[in-house]
Amino acid sequence: MNPKNTLVVYFSHSGNTRTLANQIHSIVRGDIIEIEPENPYPADYDTAVKRAKQEMESGARPGLKTKIKDIGKYDMVFIGYPMWWGTMPMPVHTFLSGYDFSKKTIVPFCTHGGSSLGHSVEDIKKLCPQSTVLEGLAVSDSDLKNDSDALNGWLRKLKMKA
Ligand SMILES: Cc1cc2nc3c(=O)[nH]c(=O)nc-3n(C[C@H](O)[C@H](O)[C@H](O)COP(=O)(O)O)c2cc1C
Repeated sequence: MNPKNTLVVYFSHSGNTRTLANQIHSIVRGDIIEIEPENPYPADYDTAVKRAKQEMESGARPGLKTKIKDIGKYDMVFIGYPMWWGTMPMPVHTFLSGYDFSKKTIVPFCTHGGSSLGHSVEDIKKLCPQSTVLEGLAVSDSDLKNDSDALNGWLRKLKMKA
């Protein structure tokens, strides 16, 4: 794996996925970019949950502030997100629909409150049918600080860590 061709990209609402993304990036290196929606989600949990549900039900594609100049240089894209309503937040759907990931390898990771990866991996495969999608990592929000064994084991299995 060449760090020059590796991108770690993530969306995070309350910081858990950012923590996990930074942990992954410290091992795989490469570039790291946060997906930021044009219209940020309110910090208040219930309001965010309501908006996320409406967006999911309507298949919304919220606009993104984040633009990636040269997606072509990456072969390996780690994509991280919190589990929202059983899948990825809609800004992650926007991101995956907005660039050409064909022939790239996509490596999903998420933080969650109990749903693990939900149906997010199937959704990634639908959005990126020409990509190779590797086994994803799901870390429970309550285990985030103590789950380096799961992270290291996953990266070793993917042959990205000695
Ligand atoms: C809008 C919303 C929807 C959520 N839906 C789920 C869900 O369906 N399943 C689940 O396990 N956790 C769910 N959660 C909990 C988050 O996935 C979990 O706390 C995650 O670690 C938050 O990551 P973040 O700090 O990077 O935003 C939801 C949280 C929010 C705000």
